[in-house]
Amino acid sequence: MQKIKEQISQDLAAAKTPDAVEQVRIAYLGRKGIVTTLAKDTDFSKMTPEEKKSFGARLNDLKTFVEESIAQAKETAMSAGAVKKSTGLDLTLPGSDRRLGSLHPISLIQMELETIFQGMGFMVVPSLECELEYYNFDAVNIPADHPAREMQDTYWMTNGMLMRTHTSANQVRCMERFGVPLKAIFPGRCFRNEAQDPSHENTFYQCEGLMVDENISVANLIAVMKTLLSELFHRDVTVRLRPGFFPFVEPGFELDLQCLFCSGGGCTTCHGTGWMELIPCGLVHPNVLKCGGVDTSKYSGFAFGIGLTRLAMMKYGIPDIRLLNASDVRFNEQFPVFL
Ligand code: FA5
Repeated sequence: MQKIKEQISQDLAAAKTPDAVEQVRIAYLGRKGIVTTLAKDTDFSKMTPEEKKSFGARLNDLKTFVEESIAQAKETAMSAGAVKKSTGLDLTLPGSDRRLGSLHPISLIQMELETIFQGMGFMVVPSLECELEYYNFDAVNIPADHPAREMQDTYWMTNGMLMRTHTSANQVRCMERFGVPLKAIFPGRCFRNEAQDPSHENTFYQCEGLMVDENISVANLIAVMKTLLSELFHRDVTVRLRPGFFPFVEPGFELDLQCLFCSGGGCTTCHGTGWMELIPCGLVHPNVLKCGGVDTSKYSGFAFGIGLTRLAMMKYGIPDIRLLNASDVRFNEQFPVFL
């Protein structure tokens, strides 16, 4: 037993890591370890009671010695490792750069619009991309034989539904659901079977706005549009309304923004006109209000359909609409992570 004590002391002195100490523990106290075997293989039946007592006491003493030596060696090895690690840590080094994802420009512009409109008391309403023909066309005053249907080449589903061609499809749903008075925007994806070019996609985003209340006039529409554009472009803006035709508004307008690049003088961005065509809008047609169950003798409203994709292009200087759907990380990474 004395030899075993000497031997384990030597072995532990050589074991510098917690793993090496664990190996020593197994060699002495494991199932086939030296101390375990010694206890197991001793034939106590051949010993006198005094011998048994004395042997048992020495065996216990050996076990305690071995266990304590191992525990101490383990502690020493572990703190040596910790010291080694802490000396490898240089707190003065600059931190390693963690790559953050960025938001898609459409998400950025949508979030910004939502914040601005919420500030004006509008609610943001989720809407369906796959719609009934009724809500996309009939309910917004575009009957089956109306030429406006052909201007929005439609993707039809095999079940007779369609991929909505404009967010105006949610106007009547919104009136049905919330009643009036009503102030809501519904941003989302629209689909048209169109040839793609730098300013046309078959999948693009719009943000519809709808306000219905007593005594709503064109003046309310202009006020809301001016607030929106001033906040979006962070400056006072000049707008003008031109007549525009949409079956679901009467009167209908195209809202133009005085070119922000040349302040109306004429430049390449505005094709020399001094104005940028931006938001189709108008007063909601009484037929649409009626479809929404609204009393037209009491209520009137305005609606607008912002081309969100084109607005993002203007705000971020994106020259080709196709970049937005290309899923090219190099493009997406150029936009801010936060608003
Ligand atoms: C409409 O879709 C009407 N629903 C807008 C409206 C709403 C008018 C409420 C009046 C009242 P239009 O087809 O012009 O209108 O589309 C509106 C905007 O969507 C356009 O100004 C344009 O910015 C965008 N847009 C239309 N087609 C495409 C396309 N193929 N690719 C990208 N953007 C498009």
